[in-house]
Amino acid sequence: MKFKGDIGLFLLLVATFLVYASAGNFMKDFEITWGESRAKVLENGQSLSLTLDKSSGSGFRSKYEYLFGKIDMQLKLVAGNSAGIVTAYYLSSLGSTHDEIDFEFLGNLSGDPYILHTNVFTQGKGNREQQFYLWFDPTKDFHTYSLRWNPKSIIFSVDGRPIREFKNLESKGVPFPKNQAMRIYSSLWNADNWATRGGIVKTDWTNAPFIASYRNFNAKACIWTSSGSSCSSNKSPLSSSTSQSWLRESLDSKGIRKIRWVQKNYMIYNYCTDYKRFPQGFPAECITSKPHKL
Ligand SMILES: *[C@@H]1O[C@H](CO)[C@@H](O)[C@H](O)[C@H]1NC(C)=O
Repeated sequence: MKFKGDIGLFLLLVATFLVYASAGNFMKDFEITWGESRAKVLENGQSLSLTLDKSSGSGFRSKYEYLFGKIDMQLKLVAGNSAGIVTAYYLSSLGSTHDEIDFEFLGNLSGDPYILHTNVFTQGKGNREQQFYLWFDPTKDFHTYSLRWNPKSIIFSVDGRPIREFKNLESKGVPFPKNQAMRIYSSLWNADNWATRGGIVKTDWTNAPFIASYRNFNAKACIWTSSGSSCSSNKSPLSSSTSQSWLRESLDSKGIRKIRWVQKNYMIYNYCTDYKRFPQGFPAECITSKPHKL
């Protein structure tokens, strides 16, 4: 490798590679989009809370659009009887051919487990649900829910433990979200027509208002604007400096073992093992990703 000759170019790339790194300010990074005063930025932007009452839920979105990122958020979910209530936290590009990466928390009766529902949409098509129970009570404390989205894969993590990977399998004809920038969205809403035990348990409004809390938003991400990505002057996020390892990372063997542990012990639904749903054969990404059979 003719390293010497390339060093000028290397330094240029380092200098122009401006990954946006934000350590949590809800005032600076987000805007309230729904529910008026039911959504509140607190502690000078250090935290945020969403409220749901009988007349409305509430929600917020990021001011910026991102194309790739490593995004952490801490959430503390509605405590007590949260049956019928959904807290959605996701990335989306919106529109009919949208890409989307979803975390949804489905509430439950006091003492019964929340379901963490995940999905990935590419080019407007989802149908890639995986659901999990959590190994802790998500209403007692804040826990970190993360998405590491780079050109190779999407990794969902909970408290640093990967729970799901969606690989870039464009070579197998599976579209991958890499051309549409997405915003972060979150909302708290009433979904008692489907969320808890398939819609059997309804929201008990005598417990309202319901509150979900957010803090420690932390993003290392490429902001997308009309002039391109903040990550690179030539719009190629792969020409990053070494410190931006998240842009090139894939899951190592330790990470794969961790995912297997979660899938073995906490996964309650996986579209990739739902034979009834795909009588003509599973989607291509299921065959190559060797899901754990329940
Ligand atoms: C609620 O609790 C029941 C009983 O433990 C369980 O079957 C269900 O998966 C839980 N979660 C939801 C969202 O229904």
